[in-house]
Amino acid sequence: MINRRQFLKATGAGASALVAGGITSLVEAAGTGAATKSAENFNPDLDIALKATPAEIPILPGNPTNVWSYRAQLVKGDPASLVHLERSYLGPIIRARTGQKVRIRFTNDVADETIVHWHGLHVPADMDGHPRFVIPKGKSYIYQFEVRNRAGTYWYHPHPHGITGPQVYGGLAGLFLVSDAEEQAAGLPSGSYDIPLVIQDRAFDHSNQLIYLSGHRMEQMTGFLGDWIMVNGQPGFSLPVATRVYRLRFLNGSNSRIYKLAWQDGHPLTIIGTDGGLLEKPVQRRYVMLGPGERLELWADFSQYPVGSESTLVSLPFDAGAMGGGRVRGRMMGSGAELPNGAGFSILRVKVNRQEKETLALPQRLSTIDRYRLADAVNREYPRRFHLVMRHMAWTINGRTFRMREVAGDEKVRLNTLEVWEFINEGNGMGMMGGMNMPHPMHLHGMQFQVLERRGVRHDGYVDEGWKDTVLLMPGERIRLLVCFGDYPGLFLYHCHNLEHEDMGMMRNYLIENTTASV
Ligand code: C2O
Ligand code: CU
Ligand code: CU
Repeated sequence: MINRRQFLKATGAGASALVAGGITSLVEAAGTGAATKSAENFNPDLDIALKATPAEIPILPGNPTNVWSYRAQLVKGDPASLVHLERSYLGPIIRARTGQKVRIRFTNDVADETIVHWHGLHVPADMDGHPRFVIPKGKSYIYQFEVRNRAGTYWYHPHPHGITGPQVYGGLAGLFLVSDAEEQAAGLPSGSYDIPLVIQDRAFDHSNQLIYLSGHRMEQMTGFLGDWIMVNGQPGFSLPVATRVYRLRFLNGSNSRIYKLAWQDGHPLTIIGTDGGLLEKPVQRRYVMLGPGERLELWADFSQYPVGSESTLVSLPFDAGAMGGGRVRGRMMGSGAELPNGAGFSILRVKVNRQEKETLALPQRLSTIDRYRLADAVNREYPRRFHLVMRHMAWTINGRTFRMREVAGDEKVRLNTLEVWEFINEGNGMGMMGGMNMPHPMHLHGMQFQVLERRGVRHDGYVDEGWKDTVLLMPGERIRLLVCFGDYPGLFLYHCHNLEHEDMGMMRNYLIENTTASV
């Protein structure tokens, strides 16, 4: 069942590619032994067969579009745990409850090697979809983990090194929604009033096939930008609603596009949740910046809208920095030329098409969040600093790029400790391009964290009140996070979630060491 030989072979192959040189290299089996042991008495509540496979989907009028798509079948569990989206390249929505044991038998049926990562979920290192676990076409990887996250909007996508961008772009992504008792007690719209909305951008050629980057270095430095805004895999998305309240869950599933979300009519957004689930209480913003990988949940009340009226969710124009702003348009070859990062456009239209009596009122209390305290951080005097800088025409973290098993001395943390991490997007225009400033959405694997503070921010578009796993840094901004490395030792990733930046190596390992166990 578990293809253990394949598994070990893949691990071994990775080890042979090990690179040393001034920085400590890691030789380990990343807890594979432990996972295999516990696999024997793992009795899943939810058992899913998932595959990545080529597919043809009708997207635009005319020819269908060739995509890669996740498809799934329920082996065991509640049939409501798998929600298939009609006519979409997106994978099915997986729904689980906190505390459930989940097995996912993943099979790779596409030409590239790949592996699945559960973005935002707190799982053991060998269940996290690190690129060293990639499998070739025809092989399988068995995931088994307990859902330890609180209720929230998580997602899954590929994570092979260097080709995550094209694979996600090709259609490989899906939502993983977790529910729990606290959420159910909160009094939020549910069932068909709870609507997941995945925002992405795409570019198509004249025969309706997806266009990715042409291979220009400049394009990769910026990241892919398409001129079609898709919601749940569909262009020109419109949402029919009744005169009542909805819970709208947004994922920015784009490779590099940032959205400055707002209601076109100027109503403020009522935000109830972020990456790691519900906020303590609703907050209002005129707009919210949503970087790749981030999620945002809205309370959207259409009860005062007349039947027949429309409401549009837009992305407002903003300054995305020297490169992201499209000032290199001439060179962009079909990517971003039409719609640079920071351009304004509409994302979806809400059409009020029927009367329904509203019974829900906006809860004043949504959930409980225990705040971390800086005083409890083991490195409170010396935050770990990560500078997001360009070196030799590559985006780096502290001047380093990704190597499969490499962990530097300052990338090792101790199990069950609370730390302060600081990301710094200098935005000082360094580099030969003269002004290469870009936003970077920074993401940590395995953990949800809390935002301690931001500096250099000249807008009010962030929602840092709740649990986060991805945070956007515009040029000139810096952020301090509090993160607790609980439960699972091993090798995890942190990286820029601009997928082209990630692919070019703006990603590093960090190692959670179980120092007491090794004594
Ligand atoms: Cu969605 Cu490594 O991330
Ligand atoms: Cu992730
Ligand atoms: Cu980046």
